[in-house]
Amino acid sequence: MTRNPHLLDWHPASWHDRPATQQPTYADPEALSAAVGALSRLPPLVVSWEVDALKEQIASAQRGERFVLQGGDCAESFEDCQSEDIVKKLKILLQMSLVLMHGMKKPVVRIGRMAGQYAKPRSADTETRDGVTLPSYRGDIVNRPGFTLEDREPDPQLLLRGYERAALTLNFVRSLIDGGFADLHHPEYWNLDFVRHSPQWQGYEKIVNSISDALDFFEAANGSPMHESNRIDFYASHEGLHLLYEQAQTRYIERSKRWYNLSTHMPWIGMRTAALDGAHVEFFRGIANPMGIKVGPSMSTEWVQQLIAKLNPNNEPGRITLIHRMGAKEIDKRLPGLIQAVRATGSPVLWICDPMHGNTETATSGLKTRRFENILSELEAAFRIHRDQGSILGGVHFELTGDDVTECTGGARGLTDGDLARAYKSQVDPRLNYEQALELAMRLSGLYPPKPHGPSFGR
Ligand code: PEP
Ligand code: CO
Repeated sequence: MTRNPHLLDWHPASWHDRPATQQPTYADPEALSAAVGALSRLPPLVVSWEVDALKEQIASAQRGERFVLQGGDCAESFEDCQSEDIVKKLKILLQMSLVLMHGMKKPVVRIGRMAGQYAKPRSADTETRDGVTLPSYRGDIVNRPGFTLEDREPDPQLLLRGYERAALTLNFVRSLIDGGFADLHHPEYWNLDFVRHSPQWQGYEKIVNSISDALDFFEAANGSPMHESNRIDFYASHEGLHLLYEQAQTRYIERSKRWYNLSTHMPWIGMRTAALDGAHVEFFRGIANPMGIKVGPSMSTEWVQQLIAKLNPNNEPGRITLIHRMGAKEIDKRLPGLIQAVRATGSPVLWICDPMHGNTETATSGLKTRRFENILSELEAAFRIHRDQGSILGGVHFELTGDDVTECTGGARGLTDGDLARAYKSQVDPRLNYEQALELAMRLSGLYPPKPHGPSFGR
C-alpha cells in the first residue's frame, strides 16, 4: 500500500487499531468485506481537484473573503433520492445563498449535506418498544427505520446502495447546476406567500426584488445568462461516520502525493466520534480533504486544541472548519473561551455556527423539534461574540429541506407544537422547511455587519 510520505505511520485502514465508536455490528463478516471490496474498486464520487478547490475557498472564508452556507437533511433517505426532492433542496440552498450574498456583499460557498449523509450516530445501540429490543436505526446506509428485526439488521449491501444514490444525486446536481438551474431570478420561482405573515414582509420583498434586479442587470451587462458567465460551485459534505465506507473511497493521488477521501468534498467529525485517540480522528488525520469538526458544550477547550494539533499539525489554511453547536443558552458561556483557546494554537480555522443541534427539544407530543427564535438567537449571539473577540464567523450550518414539512416551530407562519404532526417526515432531527430556511437567510443577511465604507462617488 502506498504510504503518505508526510505521515509514515498512517494508511486508510490504520484506524482499525483504535476504538471505533458508532459502527454497526454486521452478522456476516464475509458479506461485509465483499461489499467494502466492491466499493473500493468503484470510481470515486468526487475528484481531488474539486476537493483542493473547496479547500482554497475555505481558506479564503477563513480570511473573511467568503461566507459558507452548509445545509441539507439531518439524514438523507434512500427514498428521497428523487428528482423533485433534489431539485427543491438545491433550489432552497441556491436561493439562500443569493440572499446571503446580497446582504453580505461577498461570494457564498455552497456546501450541501448531500450525496452521502446516510449514516447517523445514535445515543444507544438498541431501541426498546413495548418490551421488544432491536438494534437502533443508524441511517439508510446501515439498516432500515421500520421496527422489525429484518429492517434493523445491518446489511452490507446498503453500503453499495448508498454509494449509488450518492452518485445519482451528485450527477443530477451537477447537471442542474451546469444548466443554470432554470431562472432562479424570476420572482415567480420564489414561493414568497409566507412573507405576508411576517411583520418584516416589506423588508423581505425588497430583498427579493433587489436580487432579481441585480441579476437582470448582470445578465444585460454581460449579454449572457448568469450561469454562463459565472459558474456556480456546489460541494458535497457528510458526517464521516461509517469508517469502512469512508476508507473504501479513500485514494492515493499521485499528483499531490496525498490521500483523499473521495466519497465527498468535505467530511466532518461528529460530536460523538471526536475522541482524541479514537478511530475517527485517526482516519481524518491522514486525508487531504478540508474537514469539519463539530464542537458542542461538552467539549473542553483543551480537547479542541488537541484535536487541532492532531488534525492540522502544519497549520494548513483551509483544512479545519470548526462547527460550533452550543445552543442559544450556552453560547455566551462557551464560545468566547473557545475562540481564545483556538487562537492560541496558531492554526487558521473557519468558524461556522450550527444553530440546530444545541437547540433540539421534545414537544409535548413527544416529537423532537426546534424553535425558529432559538435558532435565530444562537446565530445573533454567534455574530456578536465573534465580532467582540476580533474573530470572524465565516459560515452557517443548517438542517433544512426544500419541502413544506412541519418539524421546527415558529417562523413567519408561527408554526406551533400542534402543527408538528401535520407533515413531520424526518426520521431523525427536525429540519427547517422551505419558508423557514429562506426567512432565516433573510434575517441573517440583515445581521451581517455592513462594509465599513462603500463607494464614495464624487466626494
Ligand atoms: C448532525 O449534524 O446531524 C449531528 C449528529 O450533529 P452533532 O454531531 O453535532 O450532534
Ligand atoms: Co442532525
